[in-house]
Amino acid sequence: MQETKKDTGFEIVTREDFSDVTYLLEIRHPLMAKAARPGQFVIVMLHEHGERIPLTIADFDRNKGTITLVIQAVGKTTKEMQQNCRQGTHLYAIVGPMGIPSHIGKAKKVVCVGGGLGVAPIFPQARAYKESGAYVIGVVGFRSRELMFWEDRFRACCDELIVCTDDGSAGIRGLVTAGIKQAIAKHSDIDEVVAIGPPVMMKGCAEATRSARIKTMVSLNPVMVDGTGMCGGCRVKVGGKMMFACVDGPDFDGHQVDFDDLMFRLRRFVPTEKAALERWQDSCRMKIPPIERLELPDPFEEVKGG
Ligand SMILES: Cc1cc2nc3c(=O)[nH]c(=O)nc-3n(C[C@H](O)[C@H](O)[C@H](O)COP(=O)(O)OP(=O)(O)OC[C@H]3O[C@@H](n4cnc5c(N)ncnc54)[C@H](O)[C@@H]3O)c2cc1C
Ligand code: FES
Repeated sequence: MQETKKDTGFEIVTREDFSDVTYLLEIRHPLMAKAARPGQFVIVMLHEHGERIPLTIADFDRNKGTITLVIQAVGKTTKEMQQNCRQGTHLYAIVGPMGIPSHIGKAKKVVCVGGGLGVAPIFPQARAYKESGAYVIGVVGFRSRELMFWEDRFRACCDELIVCTDDGSAGIRGLVTAGIKQAIAKHSDIDEVVAIGPPVMMKGCAEATRSARIKTMVSLNPVMVDGTGMCGGCRVKVGGKMMFACVDGPDFDGHQVDFDDLMFRLRRFVPTEKAALERWQDSCRMKIPPIERLELPDPFEEVKGG
């Protein structure tokens, strides 16, 4: 098992596990906490030879000087972090805050939608809208009640909260699009919808608001490498134009995004990612089933609850 450096880097002050695959890390980084704004992300390296992975700043506390990341273990690096990142250990490097902060405009009534892991990054936006004086309707979706997290945080900053679960074990049974439709049916004066989650979920959210012509912002998650607009890895098609999510986004107008192109591009790397995970599992001799039988979350499946 590879150790993270204990004497240098950025200290993990809190580790919390929401489920077998989802965990929270609160990291001491006063400068980042001071500069962070809703919608921004960081690029993290676990150790000196680690891959650089982008993660959304799910929360920041300027008084404590910490930022919070909520991570889903889907592949080599996120599983390695799940295994090694404990309270008191350190991340080797964190770069950021990156990306254009979400535009918290003058909207008076906003629906903030998070599906699955997307519930974490939508939180700072919901809070910022509340602080700006907007009426905030939260829609959060999970597969089941056991996977829910941060309900208390959302209840504290939302005027209304609609919980959706696949199995109906909490809130309404169904996808977050059902929650959006419920909000639209009740409120004819919604100015904006903001949705974060897997691409297929954000596509569904954009379709749910298109006929009502409600402005709908989504946060895109293409594969990023440098995060500075140099490599072109994160290019996305928006309104027929090529954009770089790392510097032009990650927030874009959901009605303009070509989600099919995004999902196609994300799938291109799957064989390489599986090979990297297998190599890492072999190297650390983890006693887990072969990759073919691993039940990893599929970022493209019709989001359960989302
Ligand atoms: C702006 C942005 C914000 C993100 N925020 C979060 C977050 O808050 N929490 C979270 O758990 N995940 C987040 N992600 C996704 C996260 O970066 C990937 O899950 C992670 O890189 C996977 O690495 P891996 O080695 O564990 O898995 P891999 O097996 O390498 O990849 C698994 C899947 O993750 C995606 N992915 C892989 N490499 C990258 C990369 N370099 N950049 C982007 N996506 C990649 C692909 O869809 C891939 O199929 C975010 C991605 C972006 C672009
Ligand atoms: S990550 Fe390289 S251009 Fe965006």
